[in-house]
Amino acid sequence: MPDFVAPKGVPDYVPARSRGFAAVRSALLAAADRAGYAPIELPVFEDTALFARGVGESTDVVSKEMYTFSDRGGRSVSLRPEGTAGVMRAVIEHGLDRGPLPVKLVYAGPFFRYERPQAGRYRQLQQVGIEAVGSDDPTLDAEVVAVADEGFRSLGLTGYRLEITSLGDRNCRPAYRELLTAHLGGLDLDEATAERARINPLRVLDDKRPHMREMLADAPLMLDHLCDACREHFDRVRAVLDRLGVAYEVNPRMVRGLDYYTRTTFEFVHPGLGAQSGIGGGGRYDGLMAELGGQSLSGIGFGIGVDRTLLACEAEGIPVGQRARCDVFGVPVGGTAAADAVAVLLGQIRRAGHRADMAYGGRALKTAMKAASGSGARVALIVGDQELADGTAVVRDLASGDQRTVPLAEVSGAVENLLGD
Ligand code: HAM
Repeated sequence: MPDFVAPKGVPDYVPARSRGFAAVRSALLAAADRAGYAPIELPVFEDTALFARGVGESTDVVSKEMYTFSDRGGRSVSLRPEGTAGVMRAVIEHGLDRGPLPVKLVYAGPFFRYERPQAGRYRQLQQVGIEAVGSDDPTLDAEVVAVADEGFRSLGLTGYRLEITSLGDRNCRPAYRELLTAHLGGLDLDEATAERARINPLRVLDDKRPHMREMLADAPLMLDHLCDACREHFDRVRAVLDRLGVAYEVNPRMVRGLDYYTRTTFEFVHPGLGAQSGIGGGGRYDGLMAELGGQSLSGIGFGIGVDRTLLACEAEGIPVGQRARCDVFGVPVGGTAAADAVAVLLGQIRRAGHRADMAYGGRALKTAMKAASGSGARVALIVGDQELADGTAVVRDLASGDQRTVPLAEVSGAVENLLGD
């Protein structure tokens, strides 16, 4: 055992898997970029009260899972458990909502939840998320869902499922909540479930235990009690998704772990991941901005788990990010002059946009050539005493084994030809 290991439940990503992680994150960011989302960089810790008020005091995320501590000035701060509250804080603080609407933002980074670690469930998790603030157009809901879908698709994922529902709004939800509470009151619930029902009756609905499913089979569902405006909104979101060719299932029992959701909510689920099957989720949060002291604007967004999306790619056998470490590998044979000559050639090759690496520390030719083929490069550049004296380099096609000696000035062109094949 080494003296130090990573904290419990926190993944390290080291090569070669780290390439997969970075490729997943880039693909998800690119999908948001294509839809006009601008990057936002925010602190990983915030005033604890922001999460208590924004995410909800009674949620597990806030009441049980936050990393909260006092800083040396005695302020209570928390590592961010999610991104939406911080984005809204920044939108209000910087007055972004006073410019053109909707404000469309994308972020990537680590979030922290003190959950029980297991496969796919970490205490430091990474998300790519988007938030669109200041429009309640259902087309925007469909866009947000489609951006997530596009991100997954662009990675080659096919085995996931999209579930969607509407949670109503402040007009229709209170009456529905009462109806559900009354219904639950008539059931013989165990103590823990009754307590959950008391804190938030909606959370009882996705109880997966067979006897509870049976007992809840005819519980009233929000979808059947939407007001006209929410119903129409949901219908339009679905119609646009249909026309976009984004497949979904309506799951009226979906429960999200954060309190700010209204109307459209959704989750992407991948069955290849075991218990932690949620690879991304999001929804509308029409009351959040006002709750945090801003003007009353609606918003919608998602958070996609980068860790879990990588696991999903692996489960589907998608070789994400598994490209060669470099295109060109330099092999100096002999003294430092050869090494310097190779380093200069590689500098030119990198400037031309190719990826290049070399053998360091005066390795023997055989060892260096082994490193070259291990690197996955297409081309090796070999410079020894003879080449130094002649002002040349050997350009070797590592795929075919063909090689030729070319003047230094022509090395770039020769490499370019081989890489262009
Ligand atoms: P969330 O559903 O709590 O939503 O998290 C989003 C995604 O983060 C999940 O679907 C999952 O892939 C990943 N995730 C969450 N917890 C863990 C964990 N412990 N280990 C690994 N991955 C995890 C939010 O965070 C909302 N802020 C999303 C949102 C944005 N809603 C509106 N805007």
